[in-house]
Amino acid sequence: MDSFEWNKIIGAVLGTAVFIFVVRIVAEHIYEPEHPAKPGYIVEGVIEEPGAGGAATAPVAEVAPDWGTVLPTADVAAGQASTAKCAACHDFAKGGPNKIGPGLFGVVDNPRATHPGYAYSAAMKGKPGNWTYDEINLFLKAPAVDIPGTKMSFAGIRSERERINLIAYLRSNDDSPAPIPAPKPAEAAADPAAAPAEAAPAAGPTVAPAPAPAAH
Ligand code: HEC
Repeated sequence: MDSFEWNKIIGAVLGTAVFIFVVRIVAEHIYEPEHPAKPGYIVEGVIEEPGAGGAATAPVAEVAPDWGTVLPTADVAAGQASTAKCAACHDFAKGGPNKIGPGLFGVVDNPRATHPGYAYSAAMKGKPGNWTYDEINLFLKAPAVDIPGTKMSFAGIRSERERINLIAYLRSNDDSPAPIPAPKPAEAAADPAAAPAEAAPAAGPTVAPAPAPAAH
């Protein structure tokens, strides 16, 4: 090979290297990855940082459901189906036996740890108060977190929708179901279906439907 031939080879190699270099710079410039301000997916249980969304978004932290709004529209039958998860340990019938856990007929709004003939844990007995909608909701979400030391060895129900349906069923499974509170005015106003209501509760300027006491 003469030197002219070598020049051609070296020129070709250098030219290719320069070409690749330039293409990379240009490509990186064009395809610079843009990170979205908000993730495109929502992870259940993860609390979003405030301020990431628009000004109108509701607070995302642990907000208790507005029972006056969610209970009248809850799926009681679906809630009853969810009790399959409890049935190994709980009986739901009136006068039903205590199993691993106490009988649960009429538990909503009842004082905690008072079912006759059942030996509760010290942790359960040590927490006073009634099984209000909020309290049952917290307990069913994560029993061991709500009442550390409880002997109810059940992981909990993550889906809020499922807990609401289940609580609607528990409420109905009672001689005299606990009353449903009036919907909070702000929630009622956000619900377009609430507009053509015939009866308005005393509180607030917004017109909201009176909750139907769905006694069974
Ligand atoms: C593995 C058995 C088990 C499962 C499954 C279970 N529980 Fe329990 N539950 C218990 C035990 C045991 C207690 C008593 C806890 C204590 O004394 O600390 C209890 C207590 C309760 C109480 C308090 C009752 C009272 O009288 O104060 C409620 C309410 C309750 N369970 C609801 C449920 C529901 C609803 C489900 C199904 C979604 C469920 N549990 C699933 C074992 C269970």
